[in-house]
Amino acid sequence: MATPEAKIAALRRQLNEYSYRYHVLDDPAVSDAEYDSLYRQLATLEYEHPHLVTPDSPTQRVGEQPLSEFSEVRHELLMLSLDNAFSDAELRAFDKRVRERLGLTDIDYAAEVKLDGLAISLLFQHGKLVRAATRGDGATGEDVTTNIRTVKSIPLALRAAAHPAKLEVRGEVFMTRAGFEALNDRQQAHAEKLFANPRNAAAGSLRQLDPRVTATRPLQFLAHGIGAVEQGTLPSSHFATLQALQVWGLPVSPDSARVAGVDECIRYYRELAAKRADLPYEIDGIVFKVDERRHREELGFVSRAPRWAIAYKFPPEEAVTEVLEIEVQVGRTGALTPVARLQPVRVGGVTVTNATLHNADEIRRKDVRVGDTVSVRRAGDVIPEVVRVITAQRPAGATAFTMPAQCPVCGSPAVRTEGEVAIRCRGGLHCRAQSIQSIIHFASRAALDIVGLGEKLVEQLFDAGLVSTIADLYHLEQDKVAALERMGDKSAANLLQALEQSKNTRFDRFLYALGIREVGETTARNLARHFRLDELKQAHAEALCEVRDIGPVVAANIVQFFGDERNIAILEQVRAAGVRWEDEQPGPADDLQGKIFVITGTLPTLSRAQAKEKLLAKGAKVSSSVSAATNYLVVGENPGGKLDKATNLGTIILTEAELLEMLKGSSKN
Ligand code: IVH
Repeated sequence: MATPEAKIAALRRQLNEYSYRYHVLDDPAVSDAEYDSLYRQLATLEYEHPHLVTPDSPTQRVGEQPLSEFSEVRHELLMLSLDNAFSDAELRAFDKRVRERLGLTDIDYAAEVKLDGLAISLLFQHGKLVRAATRGDGATGEDVTTNIRTVKSIPLALRAAAHPAKLEVRGEVFMTRAGFEALNDRQQAHAEKLFANPRNAAAGSLRQLDPRVTATRPLQFLAHGIGAVEQGTLPSSHFATLQALQVWGLPVSPDSARVAGVDECIRYYRELAAKRADLPYEIDGIVFKVDERRHREELGFVSRAPRWAIAYKFPPEEAVTEVLEIEVQVGRTGALTPVARLQPVRVGGVTVTNATLHNADEIRRKDVRVGDTVSVRRAGDVIPEVVRVITAQRPAGATAFTMPAQCPVCGSPAVRTEGEVAIRCRGGLHCRAQSIQSIIHFASRAALDIVGLGEKLVEQLFDAGLVSTIADLYHLEQDKVAALERMGDKSAANLLQALEQSKNTRFDRFLYALGIREVGETTARNLARHFRLDELKQAHAEALCEVRDIGPVVAANIVQFFGDERNIAILEQVRAAGVRWEDEQPGPADDLQGKIFVITGTLPTLSRAQAKEKLLAKGAKVSSSVSAATNYLVVGENPGGKLDKATNLGTIILTEAELLEMLKGSSKN
């Protein structure tokens, strides 16, 4: 019989290994449920044998006691900041300075994303995390060890490998866009303050005195360098050092690369600029660092920035403009959203004319008024938003905005349900806005994908009395559509054909198309794996909660949707019109089931999101970084470092054409 010591040691080893696979390699080895079960076994054993608990046990992440303040930490080596470049010319000037000082003609750089988070120093003594500190002013920071211990991707102990006895790792603590959105949703649901952006959310979460609060925040970490080191050697280049850090158990960005010379730096910068909106986190530029350590030592630093590194910044995603008007829009679910009409302004490369003000709480919190000068922000694909008012420039007599008590479209009462932030129009499908939005959603790309049926046309069809629900779409007549303004025979025929084509769909798309509150594409996909339509109509909340990522709120929305006779009637009409799908339960012969794919570079016809969707639909997994577990790497133009890594690992490389062929060949469509 194994002793409790031995059992505990084995469980910790296993849990640490799974955590490494999940957080560092992005290649989970077990399901969350399996992990949780092992974790509970460990916690039980430790509870029974409290003298065997050690600070680096996976159970010891969350401290019990709030701190009264953070103590100061003096950094052994200064935590430097970076000089910036804003143009190719400035980057070239940096490269020239570097090469002249070193007397070299060619030089390699390590290229890394510049994450928009907070710099952190992690001190490992004999492999154990003993201290974590913020950057502070570069010389002195705050001791945030108890909070940092709650960040799951930061190891409490390094992996057994030849690491230095003392190793200070530096990196960035940040929040992904998805983590930030989820946190703000949660804050909103609990009527707590919202964070302005992922950076503020990360900073606020780390500055909590109560580590139990920090533990609930979706903080992530990526290492980007080294501080003090004793008793041990490091690789002679920065890029190799990052790889060593990964071996020791620290997450590093999969987007780092070694590039030769300034032209490749610029190429890399452009490649990442194009990918910027698709990255799961916000970046504000690319950091280029001289790769060889001996070169760095020779270059040294001036004031607070090294001579061997530079941040080439992306164009700002924020700009200042004026609020011309505040309007209230009514969405598909009746939620009233205040929108600021803006003096057009360029932000991050596009012209912005509207920005969302989210809801009544937000508009009150930010106190946005007509005539105000505001800072607007646009990040990736998200809707531009007003970040803050520059109150010093407020015109005299500007009055605070109040949300209407009636729906501005149908005049029904607009009320707030308890526990909700949104004020909603109670008009349901009697409200023109809600009806139109639900039809637009039904026709959208990720739903039934009715090509050519956009917002304007839906409004026309609705206002002409030709459609009032999604079911009416399938009874449109050619001549009536052709008679609409700007339509004609050809466009009408195209629309009818698109409608006909949309009838062949997939169950998950259909579910998503129904526009059930909080049932997005992923939830719809998960639901479609578990239920057929007739089962779903009858499903109770408990059964729904068995499905991945579905909690009581979403379950209640689903039950409510299928409990409404009008919805059932519309649904049946749509089905009767011929909308159909194949049975979706993935069969055992699905040969892509569980296979791990990574996609890199620009594919000739599919966007990465489309390729991913096709793969997920076949039960494959799509990961963001290449590891030994990756089965296939799908390669497009400008593939970057992933291709090298996959080639080294002997991963099977596919072109888009080969991928499509494979998708066709696999057992289900
Ligand atoms: S290196 C020379 N690498 O940017 C050492 N910093 O402007 C300086 N940052 O305080 C840090 N991503 O918080 C480095 N890949 C990266 C980074 C990065 C984000 C932040 C870091 C630093 C600030 C300097």
